[in-house]
Amino acid sequence: MEAKSVLITGATSGIGEALVNRYAKSAMVIACGRNQEKLSKFESSGVSTSRFDMTDKEQVFDAASKIEAQDIIILNAGVCEYIDDANNFNSALFERVIHANLIATGYCLEAFIPKIKSGGQLVIVSSSASFLPLPRAQAYGASKAALSYLTRVMQVELQGIDVTLVHPGFVETPLTNKNDFPMPCLVTVEQASERIYQGVLKRKKEVHFPRRFTLFLKLFSLLPFNWWLPLAKRIKR
Ligand SMILES: NC(=O)c1ccc[n+]([C@@H]2O[C@H](COP(=O)([O-])OP(=O)(O)OC[C@H]3O[C@@H](n4cnc5c(N)ncnc54)[C@H](OP(=O)(O)O)[C@@H]3O)[C@@H](O)[C@H]2O)c1
Repeated sequence: MEAKSVLITGATSGIGEALVNRYAKSAMVIACGRNQEKLSKFESSGVSTSRFDMTDKEQVFDAASKIEAQDIIILNAGVCEYIDDANNFNSALFERVIHANLIATGYCLEAFIPKIKSGGQLVIVSSSASFLPLPRAQAYGASKAALSYLTRVMQVELQGIDVTLVHPGFVETPLTNKNDFPMPCLVTVEQASERIYQGVLKRKKEVHFPRRFTLFLKLFSLLPFNWWLPLAKRIKR
């Protein structure tokens, strides 16, 4: 059955924006983000909005207190920054990324789980970067690996709510536009949002795409680490 109400974080850009457009065809959507100008554009097309910085616990709880219970909550917002020199480890960058992608998800879980209807769904957007150690991804990869683990435990523990874990490969968004290396099997935000939409509709435990890319990573993650190491070292920056 199609959802009647959906809240989506990270809605002002990329995958989140495409998800808002997809769900808005058939459901009441609350688009969440920080950028008021971008949020206002949704309002003119009948989409409700909620403005908060997910790294600010007070703002997250205030936003949650103002909404009705939803059929689906999609925690999609995230950031990516790379550590360029492992010998000069940037702990400020590390903290920023872990805070935004992991700790802030903790705030959202505490605030928004009570806002999911019984029999409703929680969707968490992690990354296929969590499957294997990738160059410069000490912060991003670690945050997403922890996020995937957290989501798996929620799948074990949560009562009365189905949880879907999303592992995208490379998707063409402002987040990846900054990448200065080849991105194999890059997909569009429309393709990504459709895959997520269909997987959530089927209440899948995991949605990963494009499969030719994610299955390759999954296969290598099962093999001895020594098989992956030289390949990872050869991946160009
Ligand atoms: N693109 C890919 O190839 C790819 C692959 C795997 C996983 N993912 C994951 O997919 C999700 C969406 O990524 P994307 O590529 O669509 O990135 P994006 O275009 O950069 O969008 C990220 C969204 O998150 C929001 N956000 C960031 N920090 C926030 C904060 N502190 N509080 C509230 N909102 C915040 C941004 O809002 P502002 O506009 O206010 O910054 C923006 O709406 C992320 O979790 C990302 O890790 C992406």
